[in-house]
Amino acid sequence: MDAPSTEQPTANERPGHRRTGPLVIGGAVIVCVAIIATVVIYQRVDALPTSQPVDEFRRGLNAPFITTADAIVDKMVEVAELTPDDVVYDLGCGDGRLVITAALKHGCHGVGIDIDPERVAEAKANVKLHGVEDLVEIREQDVFTVDVSQADVILMYLLPWMTKRLIPQFQEMAPGSRIISHDFGIGDIKYIEPDSTQQVLLEEENETHLVHRWDTPLKLPPPKSE
Ligand SMILES: C[S@@+](CC[C@H](N)C(=O)[O-])C[C@H]1O[C@@H](n2cnc3c(N)ncnc32)[C@H](O)[C@@H]1O
Repeated sequence: MDAPSTEQPTANERPGHRRTGPLVIGGAVIVCVAIIATVVIYQRVDALPTSQPVDEFRRGLNAPFITTADAIVDKMVEVAELTPDDVVYDLGCGDGRLVITAALKHGCHGVGIDIDPERVAEAKANVKLHGVEDLVEIREQDVFTVDVSQADVILMYLLPWMTKRLIPQFQEMAPGSRIISHDFGIGDIKYIEPDSTQQVLLEEENETHLVHRWDTPLKLPPPKSE
């Protein structure tokens, strides 16, 4: 029989002491993995764009609904030199004021197009209110998908990047058709010089607005040489 050891037991060997070594190591590993995972997740979240592209939210609604004041509507319709035989397309018609005024003042047919169902409902109600159902049709559609080849006149209040993107559609219009825009050019105002520009002063707002007219075919700038 061996003589009893005179050495003190180590901490792990003391009676009643649990063998925690592997548990401690296991716990430490879990904590480390959790920290690394948290850091990786945070880095990935950081890498995401802080906001979604606008189109995701607005579903193709590319210009906000801002109405054209009555005096400008009247000027646009006047500048278009409408006759009852003309067909007017109102691109981004909002509540329909441009195309309805054209129909009321000149008896011409018109199509109002808007992508926003709320605007379409308003425009349809306004068509009814003004009794021009036989002249004006309102469509819920994206302007970039509209065939404007049958339009004699386009009325619009859209942003320059939109009007520039519409050029291929405008070039399908018959020669001698008119494009009328509130404030904005077809692209940048210098991109295609308007054939005429008129100013409208809104006295109450102390604002001057512009009404531009282009006659088709548009005089596109020469392609840039490389
Ligand atoms: C500045 S508002 C002009 C409203 C009206 N034409 C006026 O002058 O009072 C622009 C309109 O374009 C519509 N719109 C924006 N993006 C469009 C798109 N891709 N296709 C059709 N309509 C669009 C909006 O819903 C809005 O009613």
